[in-house]
Amino acid sequence: MKMNLLAACLAATATAALAHGGVENPAVLARMDSMKTISEQMKTLSETVKKQREFDADALNAAIAVIETESGKTVSLFEAEESDPKSAALPTIWEDFDDFSEKADALTQAAAKWSGNIVSEDDTPMALVDLGTTCKSCHDDYRD
Ligand code: HEC
Repeated sequence: MKMNLLAACLAATATAALAHGGVENPAVLARMDSMKTISEQMKTLSETVKKQREFDADALNAAIAVIETESGKTVSLFEAEESDPKSAALPTIWEDFDDFSEKADALTQAAAKWSGNIVSEDDTPMALVDLGTTCKSCHDDYRD
C-alpha cells in the first residue's frame, strides 16, 4: 500500500520535458515557471528515493524550503483567470477558487512540516509521499 502510494507520487512528480515555446500570456508563463521550480525541487527528493543521488539532508531540506516559499505564491499566481492555448489549467480553478487555494495551502503546509526535518534517509520517501499527494490532488482536479 505504502509502496503503491510512493510509486504514484514518483510518477506524479516525474518531470516531463516541458515545452514552453509559444506561451504568449506572461501571467500563464509565470505560473508555469513557478510549477517548474517546484518540480525541480521535487526531483531532489525523487532522485534520492530512487538512489540516483546520495542522501544529503541539507540539500533535501533546502529543496523543501524552496517548495514552501514557492507554493506560497500559487494562489496569487493563479488568482486572475488568465488563459493561453498552451495552458493545462482547467477553467474549474476559477469556479471553486477557495478549494484550489486550499489545495495550494496543503502543499505549503506539507513543505512547512518537513522543511528542516529531513534527518535520516527514511524521512525522504515519507516527505515525498506527503508532498506528492498534494500535487496529485490538485492536478487531478485542476490540470488537464
Ligand atoms: C493548488 C494546485 C496545484 C498544486 C498543489 C500543484 N500544482 Fe502543479 N500545476 C497546477 C496547475 C493548475 C498547472 C497547470 C498550469 C498551466 O498550464 O497554466 C500545474 C502545472 C504543473 C507543471 C507543468 C508546468 C509547465 O511548465 O507547464 C508541473 C511540472 C507541476 N505542476 C508540478 C507540480 C508539483 C511537483 C507539485 C507538488 C510538489 C505541484 N505541481 C503542485 C496546479 C497545482
